[in-house]
Amino acid sequence: MGFDRSIKIAPSILSADFANFGAECEAIEAQGADWVHVDVMDGHFVPNITFGPATCAAIRPHIKGVMDVHLMIAPVDPYIEGFAKAGADIITAHVEAGPHIHRTLQAIRGAGAKAGVALNPGTPATAIDTLLDMVDLVCVMTVNPGFGGQKFIHSQVDKVRDLRAMIGDRPIHIEIDGGVDPTTAPLVAAAGADVLVAGSAVFRGGSVTDPTPYGENIRAIRAAAGR
Ligand code: DX5
Ligand code: ZN
Repeated sequence: MGFDRSIKIAPSILSADFANFGAECEAIEAQGADWVHVDVMDGHFVPNITFGPATCAAIRPHIKGVMDVHLMIAPVDPYIEGFAKAGADIITAHVEAGPHIHRTLQAIRGAGAKAGVALNPGTPATAIDTLLDMVDLVCVMTVNPGFGGQKFIHSQVDKVRDLRAMIGDRPIHIEIDGGVDPTTAPLVAAAGADVLVAGSAVFRGGSVTDPTPYGENIRAIRAAAGR
């Protein structure tokens, strides 16, 4: 997994057919997805429940590229080893999920995965200024986490710009999560983001038996991002 700042489209399987994750992962990769984004929710940190390490391990053989696991859970630390063993390439934890994000990030790298830190819309960029040498990815939530299909929160674009300046030459991805579509992708790409998570905007109109809309949707977001 070399580092570059080209645009990467990371479909979120939160919008996939939950009875068909393996085939959905294969379909989105065949249709041009760069990473597969896996949203883990616990019904406690966020008001929704999805799945855990066993599901990640089950879908891993169906993903050729990067498995990008976004943990919306609290506590986080007891589960890091399990998600790393399930084959996560990147494990992202929320800065709001507990008092010891520094320890959490150490544990993620210690488990052999790349470490990501996510910021809710209400959390400023400065919350992570002492953590930049410990992370491989910063995830800027552009919706309040918990559900797909929500409206993009425009006030977060300035935060992306601030983070891009803070990061400088460090090899840290800026990922955008929530409400990404061809109208919002250019705003965050121009502000310095390189990983665009998209759930509803990728999966809409398609299915495992008719995946060509996935490809059209991915290409439309990439083209709109413009770099
Ligand atoms: C929200 C999740 C997102 C979400 C994105 O809590 O972290 O990954 O699935 O979905 P869309 O693209 O539909 O906003
Ligand atoms: Zn996510």
